[in-house]
Amino acid sequence: MSEAPLNQAAFVRACPLADVPAEGTLGLEIDGEPVCLIRTGSEVFALRDVCSHAEVPLSEGEIYDHTVECWLHGSCFDVRTGQPTGPPASEPVPVYPVKIEGDDVYVAITASEES
Ligand code: FES
Repeated sequence: MSEAPLNQAAFVRACPLADVPAEGTLGLEIDGEPVCLIRTGSEVFALRDVCSHAEVPLSEGEIYDHTVECWLHGSCFDVRTGQPTGPPASEPVPVYPVKIEGDDVYVAITASEES
């Protein structure tokens, strides 16, 4: 008998859940994409690890509830949506679906940026 595998093929294992600090961030690369994992409460979120203002890693920022604050100029983003909630950034940051399976975090990198 085998356990049901992750049913979305796009999900890839990112890291052990224990690697993501409580109320903190972890920057890593998945399929060549810089990813910022954010743990707040019992939830984990994933954003592209690049501030939309001046392209520095958001994983070096601070977490307040569902907000990540960029360390360089203080832009804030909602970690659930990637939308900017505080200036100077005005563009959203891509967010990626996250799944926790057992003791591991899985992220689906979706190539949905285009305009
Ligand atoms: S680089 Fe993030 S706020 Fe300026």
